[in-house]
Amino acid sequence: MPESRPLLIPRLATTAADATTDCDVLVVGIADDGDFCPSLQQIDAEGDAWITRLVQHGKTPKKYGEMLLLGAPAGVGPIMVLLVGSGAPDQIDRQHAFDSASRAIRKLGDRVHDSVVIALSELFDPADHDAIVAGAIFGCEGTGIYQAEPAIKLAKSVVFRGIEPAALDRGRTIGESINLTRRLVNEPPAVLYPESFAEQARGIANECGLEIEIWDEEKLAGEQCRSILAVGSGSDKPPRLVILRYNGGGDEKPIALVGKGVTFDSGGLSLKPSESMADMKCDMAGAATVLGVIRAIARLGVQRNVVGVCGLAENMVSGKSYKLGDVIETRSGKTIEILNTDAEGRVVLADTLDVTLQQQPQVIVDLATLTGACMVALGKEVAGLMTNNQTLCDAVQAAAMHEGEPVWQLPMFKLYDEKVKSKVADIKNVGEARWGGAITAAKFLENFVADTPWLHIDIAGPAFAESPEPQRDAGGTGVMVRSLVRWIESASFPAG
Ligand code: BES
Ligand code: MN
Ligand code: ZN
Repeated sequence: MPESRPLLIPRLATTAADATTDCDVLVVGIADDGDFCPSLQQIDAEGDAWITRLVQHGKTPKKYGEMLLLGAPAGVGPIMVLLVGSGAPDQIDRQHAFDSASRAIRKLGDRVHDSVVIALSELFDPADHDAIVAGAIFGCEGTGIYQAEPAIKLAKSVVFRGIEPAALDRGRTIGESINLTRRLVNEPPAVLYPESFAEQARGIANECGLEIEIWDEEKLAGEQCRSILAVGSGSDKPPRLVILRYNGGGDEKPIALVGKGVTFDSGGLSLKPSESMADMKCDMAGAATVLGVIRAIARLGVQRNVVGVCGLAENMVSGKSYKLGDVIETRSGKTIEILNTDAEGRVVLADTLDVTLQQQPQVIVDLATLTGACMVALGKEVAGLMTNNQTLCDAVQAAAMHEGEPVWQLPMFKLYDEKVKSKVADIKNVGEARWGGAITAAKFLENFVADTPWLHIDIAGPAFAESPEPQRDAGGTGVMVRSLVRWIESASFPAG
């Protein structure tokens, strides 16, 4: 098996806001009203008002996202300056902090710089300084993990000007955790399959002091996890279930995070066409997000209990595959009729959610690249929220909006319940035709959460990007890691 490049980031440090600007590249923001932040004033003064001259001639970036890389006047300070347009004052928020740092790192990644100083902190609220660090780390990771020559070349050192060491540590933890999720998504399916995903989880558990249980196919059979086994039955790679526990919250009931971990989704006998199958290594993004979030929570020492449960299977075609018309008795006892083997995520999650209930969680949040229908409804950038508990949904939505990760709620009207009723079994794994497909999938899942407050997040759109953007590479995006960390840190839960 080929081995990917290790998950690397530059050496990181912080300095005082008035430290020297000597470096290879100084990254500095410039507001659209022409006001100079202290670092910009400093280099302007040191270089004979050269920035002022650029502004006077209308040569500096104004809009949010515009950048200009300049050679600095000789003699003092930085060799080059990257001016980052910060747009109107009302655009300067937490998302912008993350984004502009990532854009800057990506822009500078075409060659190795010895030292990059990021002076963006002066534009942002100190509460958002960690997002600058996280964004810079995010910018270092990308999809070309098997290329001899890295597409984004890492600086040897990145120094954050005017950022407290605590914000550096926090941003580093969050940035690294997002990149872990992205890397797991980007690994090819021959490298990352249920067993090897579980071993990755074990490595993280050891690194962060988490408890871990890995259920192999025998244990899954003993635990009546027939729906996970059914989806995995067509594959030579046996399924797994991983339970991770972080105990930072004393006696409270845990927050449960549940992830769909289909390490490759061929569609099974309801085979996908090649174009739709090509990116289906991404179908374990939910499980990878669970790992990223629990790693961050443990590293940050958050005073809460969190249990992460990942249902892992490969959906393949063989003489042993599960079939259309099959009826599976799930672990919960509910029977499901299979009418499309490509609606496998909900089948894996049925048992995964039932195992999660046994952990007696106060709330359950599941993450899944569950439906193309959710992308039809909301587009590629927006995650869908479906819930049985509005308070829980509102809290996660608020955290996500604060982090700049767009999410939108879809309704769960009773009328949809009819659409997943089966003539043969209790429920069927597809709705009626393709209408409301994201919601009927959620309605199916709702059968396996009992009365526990539950939120389903369909990340089929935003978890994986087909093409690069200035602020991020193509491939795994690590969406919802930031938002869920914020929610868990801040949460006051609907149920005790
Ligand atoms: N993994 C797919 C959903 C998906 C599609 C994720 C595109 C990411 C990008 C899921 O297992 C699936 O195939 N869903 C089917 C459900 C249908 C058969 C009811 C779909 O969305 O077409
Ligand atoms: Mn599928
Ligand atoms: Zn799938």
